[in-house]
Amino acid sequence: MSVLLNRTKSFICTKSFCKSLLVRNYSDVPKKFKTFDEVIAQRREEARRSLVVQVNSESSFNELYNYCSTHATVKDVHHYKNFNDEHFMLMEFASEDNVKEVLQTCCFHQKDADIMASKSPFVWFRATPGNKNKYEATTKSLAVKDGNNKVDEDELFGNLMECHTVSDQIQMLYDKTKLNDVGIRLRFMLARQLEVMMSSLYANIAIYPFGSSVNGFGKMGCDLDLVLTNNVNYELLDTNRRLVYQEKKCEGGRSPWQRHMELVGTLLELRVAGAARVQKILNARVPIVKYSHELTSLDCDLCYNNMSGVYMSELLWLLGERDQRVRPLTFAVRRWARTVSLTNPHPGRWITNFPLTLMVLFFLQQRRHDGFILPSFNKLVAAAGKDDIRIAEESVNCTFLRDLNKLPADSSRSEDNLETLLYHFFEYYAQFDFQEKAISIVEGVPIRKPNSLPLYIVNPLEQALNVSRNVSFEECERLKMEVRNAAWHLEAVLDGKKTEDWGLLGLLEKQSTRGVKKLLRVGHNHRLVSVKDLFAEDEEPKRKTDQQIDASVKDIKNAMVTKKETKERQLKFKNTQVANEVYRIKRNKL
Ligand code: CTP
Ligand code: MG
Repeated sequence: MSVLLNRTKSFICTKSFCKSLLVRNYSDVPKKFKTFDEVIAQRREEARRSLVVQVNSESSFNELYNYCSTHATVKDVHHYKNFNDEHFMLMEFASEDNVKEVLQTCCFHQKDADIMASKSPFVWFRATPGNKNKYEATTKSLAVKDGNNKVDEDELFGNLMECHTVSDQIQMLYDKTKLNDVGIRLRFMLARQLEVMMSSLYANIAIYPFGSSVNGFGKMGCDLDLVLTNNVNYELLDTNRRLVYQEKKCEGGRSPWQRHMELVGTLLELRVAGAARVQKILNARVPIVKYSHELTSLDCDLCYNNMSGVYMSELLWLLGERDQRVRPLTFAVRRWARTVSLTNPHPGRWITNFPLTLMVLFFLQQRRHDGFILPSFNKLVAAAGKDDIRIAEESVNCTFLRDLNKLPADSSRSEDNLETLLYHFFEYYAQFDFQEKAISIVEGVPIRKPNSLPLYIVNPLEQALNVSRNVSFEECERLKMEVRNAAWHLEAVLDGKKTEDWGLLGLLEKQSTRGVKKLLRVGHNHRLVSVKDLFAEDEEPKRKTDQQIDASVKDIKNAMVTKKETKERQLKFKNTQVANEVYRIKRNKL
């Protein structure tokens, strides 16, 4: 199911196909396909009807609900906590006017004369001692509690362990880690917050989330990519309208939009509640402003007029909608790549999630023994109508079919399950001729590489560009090696062997690593077993007190930190495998 849409599946499936996948609720093709534009418009409208209110705790719900209900109709209230354990209520009202009415009752915090309040959909609910019992308990309850929480890793691995098939594991990983409804709502609230602030400066501005926040491949906690652009409002382009806004030319040496982004960065620092650690990166090909939003614990990248990035998100979303195996498979691949350090949260000479996703889509375009799973991009372009025409900045043609119901039916759709697809993904790339061939979802078949860069993945919207041009020879070699390792690992599953690192578990994290991670997590009651596990057999300690265990954990951490300088203080590990895992975790700055 799409993370953006709470609606049923949208493809025709044969009986055997449904059986071969999971037992899920499929329905026939819906009468009308809900397009990306419609989904985004709905989320934007929802954000205009919403406010984020900081509260004392989740038990503030009753008071807040009753207080707001005296001014407006509250539709739903979603509770979440940020990284500082502060509590918030994301309140959805019945109408935009409701929000205006509630905001009209807002006041300013009088304590500090240096603070100047900003207009924004982020507010806080003042406690009034002695007023607690003023309101009767409401029959309404929170729609969601702790809606922004990521799944606990131990719990996730426990659940994956209990799955019967690798396909079940892949589906579970997706279901438990994908961006949820509250995560999406908050991302649109951040876009709304900037839009409110900027609309007093620009006549026709819109801020859209793009990338993994909206393309259906985002996981809980993923970064938020935002684009600031002119709103496409055809009424304002109507030449019959006689009065036209006076315009302000941006003068000076640097490109006007670099200067605008500089201004936006300063406004984020001075006028946007929650925005912190603002970094202006203005000399890049696409100037961006990075910031952290402390009220939502989101890291944001804001750029200007990068509509091709938005259309790319739409293309990825569309292909994810086309077949329900696409997103779970991509999640498994993205998570595996992170585990083996092929991807890294920081930019560098390695592959990132976006080109990796194109690799999965490309693999799903290959003919399988019983048919295809995804169409080529060219097929989407060929089926496009006049409503699908989109031209991005620098005349980039982003025209492709938007309504999947208009795509000619497949002669045959492959019925392979997720387990088979994941294994074949690794096998396919283990044999791929990276030296001679480029990956291109445009044709859906390998094409000749136009240059000698180690990895060539064609950007489908700007086909002269390679989205993996940053990837070094060494990283490409590591990619080839890791896909081979992963294929070998999954082969054992296909042979029917069920070890501790069985199926997805061995691809996402080694069993021994899980033990060490658990141990290093302070506050776990069961850590005694893990501590014991780390020591050489001949040094096995007697049963320790809690303080002694804490001291042991500290020792292990110290030993990791001072490994190089104080060799004599090094702990003796049970075996080299455990020691290697400890040092690997240290390297990953766990
Ligand atoms: N993008 C693009 N061309 C590139 C890189 C990125 O069009 N060469 C667009 C894609 O739509 C991509 C978005 O910019 O989804 C954001 O890029 P990035 O944040 O790198 O990828 P995400 O898909 O958001 O993945 P992640 O969860 O890792 O942020
Ligand atoms: Mg992103």
